[in-house]
Amino acid sequence: MNESHTTEPIPNALLSQPDFAVPAALAAEADELITHYPVKRSASLMLLHAFQDHFGYISQQAVVWIAARLELAPINIYELVTFYPMFHQKPVGKCHLKICRTLSCALGGAYELHEHFCKKLGLDAKAHGPQTTGDGKYTVEFVECLAGCGTAPVMMCNDTFHEGVSLKKADEILKGRGQ
Ligand code: FES
Repeated sequence: MNESHTTEPIPNALLSQPDFAVPAALAAEADELITHYPVKRSASLMLLHAFQDHFGYISQQAVVWIAARLELAPINIYELVTFYPMFHQKPVGKCHLKICRTLSCALGGAYELHEHFCKKLGLDAKAHGPQTTGDGKYTVEFVECLAGCGTAPVMMCNDTFHEGVSLKKADEILKGRGQ
């Protein structure tokens, strides 16, 4: 792809990260990941995961950097960030609580569960989108089906999956996270 494409502006910018700097280890990890695929573009998701693991979210600058490394236009990376809900467009808390609200879980008490977490953490249960506590420790958000419909309500705390989450179990999850 033409090199000029790598500097095209992103049409709907993510958060800017003025202090963005890619450490040598992360750049090396990106280059190593690229070697796993027959074409560079196929490494896009893996690079996004690596950058999110490092920075906690995907910024405008990260999109431009990754696109340049893969010889793509920023839009090719940006569209992945906005399509896949696992990519964070802004920083999330160290403890990220994702509560499924799709039908089985909604019927099983997902909304009560979400409200319970929000109340305990001083967040607004009615607000739209992910809510993060002022100290940056906790983020609560609704997500769609986590593929555990038979044991609703289900949720994730970072990468840990929890099934049949009662309010009591919710308190235990928070307690295990220092709340
Ligand atoms: S509906 Fe919640 S896991 Fe499927």
